[in-house]
Amino acid sequence: MTQIKVLITGGAGFIGGNFVQYMVNKYPMYDIFNLDALTYAGDLTKHREIENKKNYHFVKANIADRKAMFELFEKEKFDYIVHFAAESHVDRSIIDPGIFVRTNVIGTQVLLDASKQIGVSKFVHISTDEVYGELDFNPTTFFTEDTPLNPNSPYSASKASSDLFVRAYHETFGLPVNITRCSNNYGPFHFPEKLIPLTISRVLKDEKVPVYGDGKNIRDWLHVFDHCTAIDLVLHKGDNGDVYNIGGHNELTNLEVVKTIINTLGKSEELIEFVVDRLGHDKRYAIDPAKLEKLGWKPTYTFETGIAQTIEWYLDNKCWWEQIVSGEYQNYFKKQYKFEKD
Ligand code: NAD
Ligand code: TYD
Repeated sequence: MTQIKVLITGGAGFIGGNFVQYMVNKYPMYDIFNLDALTYAGDLTKHREIENKKNYHFVKANIADRKAMFELFEKEKFDYIVHFAAESHVDRSIIDPGIFVRTNVIGTQVLLDASKQIGVSKFVHISTDEVYGELDFNPTTFFTEDTPLNPNSPYSASKASSDLFVRAYHETFGLPVNITRCSNNYGPFHFPEKLIPLTISRVLKDEKVPVYGDGKNIRDWLHVFDHCTAIDLVLHKGDNGDVYNIGGHNELTNLEVVKTIINTLGKSEELIEFVVDRLGHDKRYAIDPAKLEKLGWKPTYTFETGIAQTIEWYLDNKCWWEQIVSGEYQNYFKKQYKFEKD
């Protein structure tokens, strides 16, 4: 019997990396291919524990490279595609939107063409709740799968565009697709440019934590492990053509998140510095996950248990994030943030 072949794009990044490890360990009978261009956000050191497993393979390639993608797809004849590879940081999309179009839109369209060519059994496109735009602060309003797309940042506009291509390939060519739209993730191997790992890594070094605006913007946080179980379920049980929202009802203001981390680490809240607000900063995101729950999904972490596990992980894995924050990252950080004392 031939093995099921699963291509995971962006598997050297944060969520894709967690998903690669989850799949390699959970499905020894599947061949797992991790395809990644190894941009600033990708690193393979996170896969030391699985890199020698028989069912793990790595391919270094750019998803927007049509020739390379078609050659690979023709050679391997993948059964399932789980597509994470993307430029993922809103602040970087404000500095340079062009790369978001090339990777997130054109890259996705190339993968759709290659998938159509070989006739994959499933294409799961990992999108984000940010494609719906922003909610107001009324706590009874949520994003559902029927909320109109209304993206505000170049990042979310590029993701919404890619979602529309995925949908169109289902409607026009019958490609068996699903789109997942998850809330903000956190957990192990989160790149320290995003709020939670940025706060943990800076607080541990007694450095100022930059909070945009008044810190009252709200995000709905989900532990990356719970995102992985949701994608696994959609991959195997999702109805072709359907969208699934993923979120665990963990709404917090940015200030609440930052203070929780500072207090857990026993440091002073004076480390907080309010800095100039992000352009077009979305007020609030919140997910209604009822459709996915009906499919059988339940998160395992609350924000309290998840953030405690994550802080522990950053304490135990200093060498992973210290080599990131001491490198090229310094240049990005200096360009992005102006502190009072600078
Ligand atoms: P990340 O930035 O940590 O990782 C992205 C990975 O994609 C990196 O390994 C990078 O090297 C790779 N990559 C980038 N451009 C590529 C290209 N052209 N070809 C091949 N590989 C390329 O991102 P993440 O936070 O893990 O997000 C993964 C996916 O999940 C994205 O599609 C993102 O939109 C979506 N998402 C993220 C969140 C979140 O909170 N981080 C929430 C919902 C959805
Ligand atoms: P981020 O982690 O960049 O995720 P996203 O923009 O996709 O939600 O930001 C989460 C929230 O934290 C968002 O409201 C912006 C805010 N934020 C800060 O206040 N300071 C920071 O340095 C960063 C990176 C984010």
